[in-house]
Amino acid sequence: MTTTPKRYTVTAALPYANGPVHIGHLAGVYLPADIYVRYLRLQGRDVKFICGSDEHGVPITIRAKKEGITPQQAVDKYHELIKQSFEDFRVSFDVYDRTSSQIHHETASDFFKKLHADGKFIEQTTQQYYDETAQQFLADRYIVGTCPKCGNENAYGDQCESCGTSLNATDLINPKSTLSGAVPVMRETKHWYLPLNEYEPWLREWIVEGHKGDWKPNVYGQCKSWIDQGLQPRAVTRDLDWGVPVPVEGAEGKVLYVWFDAPIGYISATKALTDDWEKYWKDEETKLVHFIGKDNIVFHCIIFPSMLKAHGDYILPDNVPANEFLNLEGDKISTSRNWAVWLHEFLQDFPGKGDVLRYTLCANAPETKDNDFTWKDYQARNNNELLAILGNFINRAVVLTQKYYEGAVPARGELTDYDKEVLGVLEGMPMVIATYIERYKFRDALGELMNLARLGNKYLADTEPWKLIKTDEERVKTIMNIALQISGSLAILMEPFLPTSADKLRSMLSMNPAMWTDAGSAELLPAGHVIGKPELLFERVEDAAVEAQVQKLLDTKKANEMANAVAEPAKENISFEDFSKMDIRIGTIMEAEKVAKTKKLLKLKIDTGIDQRTVVSGIAEFFNPEEIIGQQVSILVNLAPRDIKGITSQGMILMAENADGSLAFVQPGKQITNGGTVS
Ligand code: MF3
Ligand code: ZN
Repeated sequence: MTTTPKRYTVTAALPYANGPVHIGHLAGVYLPADIYVRYLRLQGRDVKFICGSDEHGVPITIRAKKEGITPQQAVDKYHELIKQSFEDFRVSFDVYDRTSSQIHHETASDFFKKLHADGKFIEQTTQQYYDETAQQFLADRYIVGTCPKCGNENAYGDQCESCGTSLNATDLINPKSTLSGAVPVMRETKHWYLPLNEYEPWLREWIVEGHKGDWKPNVYGQCKSWIDQGLQPRAVTRDLDWGVPVPVEGAEGKVLYVWFDAPIGYISATKALTDDWEKYWKDEETKLVHFIGKDNIVFHCIIFPSMLKAHGDYILPDNVPANEFLNLEGDKISTSRNWAVWLHEFLQDFPGKGDVLRYTLCANAPETKDNDFTWKDYQARNNNELLAILGNFINRAVVLTQKYYEGAVPARGELTDYDKEVLGVLEGMPMVIATYIERYKFRDALGELMNLARLGNKYLADTEPWKLIKTDEERVKTIMNIALQISGSLAILMEPFLPTSADKLRSMLSMNPAMWTDAGSAELLPAGHVIGKPELLFERVEDAAVEAQVQKLLDTKKANEMANAVAEPAKENISFEDFSKMDIRIGTIMEAEKVAKTKKLLKLKIDTGIDQRTVVSGIAEFFNPEEIIGQQVSILVNLAPRDIKGITSQGMILMAENADGSLAFVQPGKQITNGGTVS
């Protein structure tokens, strides 16, 4: 679309209501979508921003099972949590609906019925795993078995998480149902398929030829490679008891495949929003844009468009700006490993700092390649950019205006070349930023916004009104006027990125509601307009705050290591005689001190009941000498004495080693007389 469209329908991928949302979701999908929509609204365009929870599918049933609740209870819980997080981060959906709603069930059901009636599906009967104990067909995720590639005994029916291979359930060796533990049997089942192969020529024309330069290279490339590989009929129904029932005869116990029903959720949500929904989905002059993550590309570029095409009444997406993934401190974000920064937890730890996270995630967005979020970067972005550049400039402009003019914007006098140059850049800025946003280059757009703040800072630093005020009051009026025009423009242009700070700044400048095109004007804040009191837009993020977050992640990593620890295999068998050669006793630590010039060694004096003897033990990293005095330990008393760092060590203290490498004494379960034997 080259001319300005009449209206926009902007969708953001419906998140699965099987867990809270994290920074990866925000950076990849919801933040860019929100920036785009807020910008369109400021341009006065007619736009509907659509989202909701994706509440069907196997991930939901698994989550519910894990938590011991029903799927409905699970989605109720996570729908509310997710919805709240989006509100808290000011993601400005016009509607946030859910796919378990009545309106969605009807819409998805009708959609299927129309395709069915128009003969758009093929029916196929195949063999699928069935659990006779649980009396149901098994989704891939409900089957575990041995991976044929690496031998991992807990591979899933669709993927081995140990070696990463994607699998078919029938590839698994010794398959087992996770529902009942039963060995599944093969049983016939009938399903409805969308023959994607028939849409191949059309998809080629529409995407490969039609969207060459305008879709992002990562999106275009993935689509082209799918089409080039040849498309297969795709089942759009499943044997499952959670979802939209298949609305035709002979389909008892079957539901629509979640990837069939969920994208229809965009349409249902629009219906829930407005009676006028049809023009947002059926009028060729509407521009439809889907914001998604890269794992959703095939569904939004190939499958859903083919469904829309088969239906016939709907428009197709004009663009699908998918992002790559965001990693966290060098590791892939993972819900199951709890390796994430959860949005609701972020706001508990950093109340009121939603904009700072928005800023960091946009400045470092995974637009063209996977990117890494680090707490250090978060701190640096806040302290060195938001605070030092944007916040500092605004603060200077507002404080000086209050000080010199009691808040009234002074009139400009004669302009120097420098003034003209600065006003020129200011005038061009809305267009520069708009062009980036319209091309889905939000990082670049944000970069330019910050350049405007940088320019403001530099302008004040170069002209030094705080010095000039003593010698040339007239000149200072011009400088401050220009600084205030820049401030006002920033308040408008930053709104898509930093909505809360923009609100604050607008009220600080006592600005009326303004449009995007008002920005850049040298008359935005006319002479005589009275601004409000200075308020800080940003605060320093201290080392301790980010260190605590890093520590939280280290704790998570440790907990994961412990949970996944595998015991070492047993050593070779020994005879009882071999064992009974060892004389192990219970003793008490009488004295303990560090061995000088060593890191790991403690010198202990042990009352073994037999005698009092010295033992040197490599445990100094884990114990404080003072704290272990008086503790009972197990000691091998007939180990031949050895010289360690010039000390004769007589015996060895038995230690147990934890999965994280930390050590503990092997102690008796109750007080034992020193010298008591261990056997
Ligand atoms: N729930 C899916 C995910 O999180 C996205 C669904 S997008 C929709 O990956 F189009 F199907 F709604
Ligand atoms: Zn494997």
